[in-house]
Order: sequence, then structure tokens, then C-alpha cells
Amino acid sequence: MHLYGTQQVNSQGHLTIGGVDTLTLAQQYGTPLFVYDVALIRERAQGFVNTFKKLGVTAQVAYASKAFSSIAMYQLAAQEGMSIDVVSGGELYTALQAGVVPSTIHFHGNNKSLAELEMAFEAKIGCIVVDNFYEIETLKQLAKNRQQQMAILLRVTPGVEAHTHDFITTGQADSKFGFDLNNGQADEAFLQTYQDEYLQLLGMHCHIGSQIFDTVAFGVAGEKLVDKMAKWKETYQFTCRVLNLGGGFGIRYTEEDKPLAPQVYVEDMIKVVQKKVNEVKLTMPEIWIEPGRSLVGDAGTSLYTIGSHKTVPNVREYIAVDGGMSDNIRPALYDAKYEAVIANKADQAATETYTVAGKLCESGDKLIEDAQLQQAEAGDILAMFCTGAYGYAMASNYNRVARPAVVFVEDGQHQLVIARETYDHIIANDKALTLKKG
Ligand code: LLP
Repeated sequence: MHLYGTQQVNSQGHLTIGGVDTLTLAQQYGTPLFVYDVALIRERAQGFVNTFKKLGVTAQVAYASKAFSSIAMYQLAAQEGMSIDVVSGGELYTALQAGVVPSTIHFHGNNKSLAELEMAFEAKIGCIVVDNFYEIETLKQLAKNRQQQMAILLRVTPGVEAHTHDFITTGQADSKFGFDLNNGQADEAFLQTYQDEYLQLLGMHCHIGSQIFDTVAFGVAGEKLVDKMAKWKETYQFTCRVLNLGGGFGIRYTEEDKPLAPQVYVEDMIKVVQKKVNEVKLTMPEIWIEPGRSLVGDAGTSLYTIGSHKTVPNVREYIAVDGGMSDNIRPALYDAKYEAVIANKADQAATETYTVAGKLCESGDKLIEDAQLQQAEAGDILAMFCTGAYGYAMASNYNRVARPAVVFVEDGQHQLVIARETYDHIIANDKALTLKKG
């Protein structure tokens, strides 16, 4: 069994997180429950933030809040000196309600609505990451009408796509996001924005993928962007102040995953960019990054109560839990792999093989296939590791199942940060039928 962050097994054989018994948490808050190890989130954040400081590179580490967005999470990210990346009016609203300093907010998205852009102007956020020509037009008009300045980055697709250990470079990127760096679109976007009276072009952004365990692809992408910066400098005497290399730093879900420490990603990235910058005789830009999963992924653990048990003779043993694809769509959607332990038997050997099924009405609602677990009985608490990123964030009310509660734990303390949905929440927006029959 692999333990993450502050996880331990106590003298009663129970899994603890942040010094708190997970059985106590399950009892007090109910299940399904997301538990976040705050110390681990802080450690990861410091890993990124302090490495830039140590290297003397001006930087912003923006938490990609699509991974897990809540008021308390934004406040935690701000405490750790991070900026915030939002991708919707809903995330922006949550961040503002959390008291995040607006100038530290970056707004992403390939189809931001006018209302969302107006909200960003109204709040005077730090920067909008511009995705396409339609958005350039909309923004120019909006900024002019409001007579208000707005800082922007151009999101470009460098033709580098990274995933896990591999990456590919292609001449053209087939992506719904951003301006192609290789086919002239990025240059055209530059020409349309760099002299605008109200839009203040800071530089470029790219995001090359998810769950990346190798630093080479970030370097390749960085070099391509620096080359473009050099061209814009030479041709138009324009200086890109900011180079944003996105997120995608990998984490350990199972033993096959071999992530690097935040420091390593940052150090390698800086080494390559600095070298390239020297080569083309530019000054080092500010480096911004956007980690999501690597900040909150393995800091999150889902607690479920085990209920029914089904044996398919000579095929498989199912155990079912009180949640499933409604609180973690990743196994069904991406065939994502996870590990788990029976939290009240964490000191016992994992002698059994079970497929952990959810309770949703869909055969594909399986959380883990062939999990190695302790002998399971109804009422046991299953702790599924590494569910902190894109778990709660992608939760749904399928089958009108209520969304779980979320708690933060740290140094023996625990705190509810998102309350469990109730049946009243479930019907809150419903209206009774008023159409008359016939
Ligand atoms: N920046 C941009 C522009 C992004 O599109 C993303 C993720 C990130 C940063 C953060 O990436 P991270 O560090 O978390 O890998 N739902 C999928 C992941 C979708 C990621 C989308 N973009 C999953 O559950 O694996």
C-alpha cells in the first residue's frame, strides 16, 4: 500500500490523514466524502513557488482551479502565494467570493461569453488568456467601450503534445484551443493586438498536455515560444514580458506512475528557457505556470461505505460503494486507474481481489477493476487514493445522487469546506408542471 503525504496507519489499524482518523471523518461527515491533506497541498505549492524564488526567476504559479474549485481551496492557494487560473464565470465568481486578489486571476477558455468577459473587466482581473480571433474582436470592442485597460496573453499551440512519458511534435496542432504557432495564426493574433490602445499584450501561453512525467516536452515547447518572441522582437521591437508554460505535471495514481518533484519540473524548464533566451539575446521573461492536478490530486482521498457484495462465480467479486461515477467520472470516462485500502483494516494484508462498483445505474460505473484489498464486509470504509483532482470538480447529479461533502484536514484538525448536498438541493431549481393536459 502506498501512503501519500501525511497518511499513516494508527494503532487501531485505521488510515489517518493529517493526524485525523478517517473513520472519525466518515462517521462525523458521512460518506461519500472527499478528504484533502492540506499539508501536502502546501508542500507542493511551495515546491513550485520556492524553486522559482531560489532560481531568482520572476514567476507566477497559478493554481489551475478546474482541478478542484471551492472557496476554501482558493483561499488556501492564495495563502501559499499562488495566482489563480479560472476557466468560467462560475470559477471566477467563486474566486472573487473567496476574496482572491483580482489582479492575481487569469481567465482561460475557448469560448468565453460576453457576460463572462464583462465580469472579468468589472472585477479588474490580472489577465485574460486570449484563445481565438473572435475573442480578440470581442475584447477590443469591450475594452474600448469601457475605456478600460486589460492585460492579455495569447494562447498558442506550439505543435507539441505531451502525455505521460511521450510527446509528439507536429507541424500543425489539431486543437480547439489557441492560435497555431506554425501556420501564421499566432503572428496574425499578435499583429491584431500588440498595438491596441486598451489591450496590453504581456506575452504567450501554451499548455501541452496532462500527466506529464518528463520535462523534455516543456523545454521543446518553451524553445519554440522563445523563438517566436525573438522574431517579434526583431521585426516589431516588441518585448514579451511573460512566458506561460501551462500545467500538466504528473502525479502517482498507481505504481506505474513515476512523477517528478515540482522542483525538477521548474528547474529543467528554466534551464532550457534561460539557455534559449541567451542564445537569441533576449532578456529572461517572467515564467508563469498553471499546475492543477499536481497540487491537489494525491492530496485528495475519497471515503466510501461498502454495501452490497456480488460474486460472479469463476469471474469476479464485486463490492459496491455508496458513490461512484457521480463523484468520480474518471474511471468510466478515461479508464483511469486508482488504488484503495479498507480504511478500518489498513494494517491487514490485502489478500482479496475485488472490483469496486459504484451505485449508479450504469454497468460501466466501476471505480476500480481488480483492486487488491483486505477482506471486505458491509459497513467497512473504503479509502480510494489520489482523487483530489477532477473528482469533485467533475461530479454530477446523475441518478439525482447528491454530491458528497468535502473536508480539509491539517495537524489533527478537520474542517468542512463543502457541505454535502441534500435532497432539497437536488430539487432546488425544479418547477412544478403548469401545462394543462389536452
Ligand atoms: N492550464 C490549462 C490551460 C489547462 O487546460 C489545464 C488542464 C491545466 C492548466 C491544468 O492541468 P493539470 O496540471 O491539472 O494537468 N479532466 C481531465 C483533465 C483535463 C485537463 C484540462 N486542462 C482529467 O481528469 O484527467
